[in-house]
Amino acid sequence: MREFGVGKSSLEEHILEEIEEVADDLEKVKGEEITNLSKVMTTASCNNIHSFIFGYRYKHDNESLQQLIKAIEDIFSGPGTLSASGLFPLLNLFMIDDLKSRREGLSKLKKYIEKHISEHRELFDPDNIRDLIDMYLVAEKEESEQKSVMNPAALLASIIDMLAAGTDTTATTLDWSFKWMIQYPDVQKRCQEEITKEVGPGRMVRLSDRRHLCYTEATLMEIQRLSNTSILSLPHVAVCDTTINGFKIPKNTIIMSSLISVHLDETIWKNPKEFNPGRFLNESNDIINKEYLIPFSIGPRICPGESLARSELFLIFSNLLHRFEFSKVDPDDILSFEGVSTVTTSPSPYRLKAEPR
Ligand code: HEM
Repeated sequence: MREFGVGKSSLEEHILEEIEEVADDLEKVKGEEITNLSKVMTTASCNNIHSFIFGYRYKHDNESLQQLIKAIEDIFSGPGTLSASGLFPLLNLFMIDDLKSRREGLSKLKKYIEKHISEHRELFDPDNIRDLIDMYLVAEKEESEQKSVMNPAALLASIIDMLAAGTDTTATTLDWSFKWMIQYPDVQKRCQEEITKEVGPGRMVRLSDRRHLCYTEATLMEIQRLSNTSILSLPHVAVCDTTINGFKIPKNTIIMSSLISVHLDETIWKNPKEFNPGRFLNESNDIINKEYLIPFSIGPRICPGESLARSELFLIFSNLLHRFEFSKVDPDDILSFEGVSTVTTSPSPYRLKAEPR
């Protein structure tokens, strides 16, 4: 696949710019109580996906960005949320108000995307592929002679899927990450010591540092194992009669696999409910057991955003730990690690403070 982005507009640079802005937001409230970390992380995740698709990112207080986030939230809001995936369509009959805001959200999102696709068509330059839409336009040109699956409706649907599936999941995982870090300051300190040793004080953490930051990587893995942002996979359908582990599965059965059951399986993990990044490291400090960690699911329908999400999680988590010390506002604060489930599972609201290091 052709790569997009030249110079400063590469995806990693976009994410690093985004982190600078998150750090500025945190700097402004240094030492004070923060209760809106989930909103900051949602803005950052949406902006990252936005730059991947549309080639540029917004400042955090930009009105268009906040409207875009609102439209995405509207599509997936309310107790009828699961009906958005077609799972329980009957729920829509009882959720007229939710359905109205969902339709409005979808219509705003479609208009926003269509406007950007038209602008991209007008300004298209095959020698400067800026983003996902430009990549689509290249593929459309190359495949026009063959029978192609590329079509404008598929592009629109894919962009909606990416904005919806990539914003909340990544933001929620980051929200969980800092809750775990203030609960386990010793783990936070060990990550910070590793980052200081391997990266040094004068620069940001880059993706190329990842292979040297094994403890930090193991910590993120443990956060994903215990947070279970996606408890279940999306609905899948058996395309033929089959048997799995002795269970007969008839053709057309809807199947949702339980990812959390693997992450808490006592036959795989010792003391599975314990927060212990060390379970992902061997004596030589190499990463182990990653085949049993499946927050992005497994198989041909695995999350297509896994690589982008893992890059975002690593860069945002490690750079913020590099810059700030996170802690409870009051050492006596008792934090709950029971998740609150809607489409994703978020941490219950909590407060924390960030002090520059
Ligand atoms: C920490 C972040 C993320 C987590 C935990 C996550 C997890 C998942 C899971 C569990 C699924 C269901 C897979 C299945 O049914 O077997 C999924 C699907 C999906 N994800 Fe992600 N995801 C994340 C980030 C992203 C990002 C950043 C994007 C896009 C840029 C994305 C795009 C999608 C899409 C489009 C699907 C639906 C795929 C399909 O219908 O086949 N995800 N994700």
